[in-house]
Amino acid sequence: MKISLLYGTETGNAELLCEELQEALSDGHEVDVANLEDVSPDALSAEAFYVFVCSTYGEGELPSSAIDFFTALTEEKPDLSGIRFAVFGLGDTTYDETFNNGSTILADSLVAANAQQIGPRGVHDASGDEDAESIALPWLQERLAEAS
Ligand SMILES: Cc1cc2nc3c(=O)[nH]c(=O)nc-3n(C[C@H](O)[C@H](O)[C@H](O)COP(=O)(O)O)c2cc1C
Repeated sequence: MKISLLYGTETGNAELLCEELQEALSDGHEVDVANLEDVSPDALSAEAFYVFVCSTYGEGELPSSAIDFFTALTEEKPDLSGIRFAVFGLGDTTYDETFNNGSTILADSLVAANAQQIGPRGVHDASGDEDAESIALPWLQERLAEAS
């Protein structure tokens, strides 16, 4: 299965996590990584399984590299029927009421465009004890099993 890891980031953590996931999955899977700021929603393909890794910034907002993608999704309203995706959020429970809100905004906008979300959203808490890959990799293996 072709896997495309797409990250929305403000300070680079989501990019780093995607690179770690790419390396971990590279045996047996074709995996590419791209910044959401370089991706247009209407270029998504039903051939790939998309994994969006997105942080939250400001007061529960999308990080800067995800904003153009989100704007295109909500304003141009492409029909993403046939596109399958999973979402993993990077956040911090210090931001109590807006914990991981960015990844929720992104997932909701993809579902509103008729894309199919596979499995529950994964989340990482930067204030927690575990590093992001320890949570994201087993979460992703489960999503890949569901998607195949
Ligand atoms: C100014 C600022 C605002 C943030 N706001 C939120 C927030 O509202 N909710 C949340 O869950 N995390 C918030 N975070 C935490 C980041 O999402 C977290 O550190 C994440 O790992 C950053 O990933 P990135 O480097 O890919 O952007 C904030 C961090 C900063 C520095």
